[in-house]
Formats: sequence, C-alpha cells, structure tokens
Amino acid sequence: MKSYSIALIPGDGIGRDVTAAAWSVLQTAANHAGFALAETEFPWSCKFYKDTGRMMPDNGIETLRGFDAILLGAVGWPVEVPDSVSLHGLLLPIRKAFVQYANIRPHRLLPGVTGPLRAESFDILCIRENTEGEYSGAGGRVHQGTLDEVAVETSIFTRAGVERILRFGFEQARARHGRLASVTKSNAQKYSMVFWDEITRKLAADYPDVTVTRYHVDALAARMIMAPETLDVVVASNLFGDILTDIGAAIQGGLGYAASANINPDRSAPSMFEPVHGSAPDIAHLGIANPIATIWSGAMMLEHLGETAAAGRVMKAIEATTARGIGTIPGKDRTETITAAVNAALT
Ligand code: IPM
Ligand code: MN
Repeated sequence: MKSYSIALIPGDGIGRDVTAAAWSVLQTAANHAGFALAETEFPWSCKFYKDTGRMMPDNGIETLRGFDAILLGAVGWPVEVPDSVSLHGLLLPIRKAFVQYANIRPHRLLPGVTGPLRAESFDILCIRENTEGEYSGAGGRVHQGTLDEVAVETSIFTRAGVERILRFGFEQARARHGRLASVTKSNAQKYSMVFWDEITRKLAADYPDVTVTRYHVDALAARMIMAPETLDVVVASNLFGDILTDIGAAIQGGLGYAASANINPDRSAPSMFEPVHGSAPDIAHLGIANPIATIWSGAMMLEHLGETAAAGRVMKAIEATTARGIGTIPGKDRTETITAAVNAALT
C-alpha cells in the first residue's frame, strides 16, 4: 500500500483542535482510497519555547526535510511569547528553508455559507510570494530606546524570486479561466514594484492565452469587495498577498474557511499546509474552532501528493456538510460536530 509520511505540527491554541480534526478526516479519506498516511507529531509551539528557549530544535528543519508533507495548525501565543519571536522561530523559517515560494489561497463561498457581500459567487485563487519581498527579514534598529532611534526594514525582490512567482501565477491562470491580476504599487514604490511590473510584462509574452491586468494593491483590495466575480487568479508579493488573503477570507465568510498551501513547486523539499487563521487564543479552550479551513488545507495536501480523487472527495464532503448548515455560523457548531459531519459525508 502506498504510504505518505506527514509531519504534524499542531502548534498553539486552536491549532491543536483543527489539526486533530483535519487529521481524522484525512485518515478517513485515505482508508477509503486505499493509501496510508503515517504521522509524526512535533510539539513545536510557544509552550515548547517556554520549556526549551526555542520554537523548534536546532535540527528542526533537517528533521522535517525527510517528510512528504507538513500539516501545521497555528503558531502564536502572544501573551507568553512575542509574535515576532514565535513566527520567526517556526513558521517563517520553514517557508523559506523549504523554498515554499508559492502560497496558494483559494477564496470562494462554500454552499450554505453566507458571506458579507452582495456577490453570490466568485472564485479567486490568490498566489502569494512566500519567501522574500517585505518578509525578507533584512533590517535593524540603532540607538534603541533613544529619541534618535532608527528602524529600517528592507524589502528584497530578486529577479529569480519575482520571476518564479509570476510564472507560477501565469501557469495557474492558464489552467483556470485565463485571467491574471498582477498586484503592484508601482505608482508609489518606484524600484521594487516597477521591477515587478517589468517582469510581469516580459513573462506575458510567453502566455498569449492569459489576459494579464495590473492592479495597484489598494484598487485590488476594493475590487475584491466590490466586484470579486471579476477576478480569477491574483498574484502578489508577500505582504500584499498577506493582506489581500485576509480580505479573501472575510469575503468567503471568515477565517474559518480560508485554506492555504505553502508549495515548493520544484518538490526539492516538503510543502506545508495550514489554515490562514492563527491560534485564536480567545477561543482556544472552547472547542468551537471551525476546522473547515484546515480540512480544506488537508485536501490541498492530498492534491499535492497526487491523491487527486481523495482530495476531491474531501472537498465534496466539506461542501455536503456546509450545505446542511453545519459549520456555517461562527460558534454554533462544535469542532467535533463539524468534523464528525465531514467524516460521515466521506463514508
Ligand atoms: C499568514 C499569517 C502569517 C503571515 C503570520 C502569522 C506571520 O498572517 O499566514 O497569513 O503573515 O504570513
Ligand atoms: Mn496573514
């Protein structure tokens, strides 16, 4: 029997609940399809940091490298560990070290879910650059704590990094409805975003079948709310993509539905699958976290592993569940109720 080795990193807060939920659904799907998912769970989290002084051990990255994929819940417990420490100690280094340069985030309304917009249907695939740009971590502070203090944080855009994410966006658009929105801000950022636009224009020549439109990020943010049905694939830099995908989550009914895949398209290292939402400390012990975003991320994992039929079945089971009104109203159904409904729809 074919078997995949999966690293589970539940992390903090509701990350633990939603990872357990998704894992049970993935096991049901695997049993049905006749392949195995073998898990190794890692306790890396803010709790681990409090105990050891590290978010993951020194050899954490090397430990993960051997897995077929990583399923992550959420990282962060800001009252105990500053987010700038916890995220730079676990989530962000994994994205960078494993060259998971394409962060894929689908935004559409599941059946039975009422979004906040008038638009009844839209289907947007956001592709967010995931390794450089505004998240490069290049910078510093001098004269700390004094009136002369200076903080500098430099965005780094490399030709290789920009080309590969834009090409990925063009490929996705080609495989979908042929429309690509390239997110820029070249009216204000005259180096990095002019560079981004130039590369967009250059690559467009290789994709005559794709209609590419450049949008400034502010205008695209408005468009996602006023006319989301006009969008197909959106490709954006790391920070622009981060912000736009929270809008995407909002218009699809909330963060409880927003899935994400951190993909290494070359398959030179494992890819990582995680919901867009965080650890939600305010509801962490209530058992009411919506697991759908993580289950959907799990379906994206199956797809990436080549288990396309099983991935499709998981998506159908999620849709059957929300169509019955389960998991469609925040806080109404318990995590375990939603999980049981998805599992039942699979069998
Ligand atoms: C996300 C999150 C992370 C990001 C945070 C937690 C660092 O907001 O995955 O969208 O900004 O990438
Ligand atoms: Mn975010």
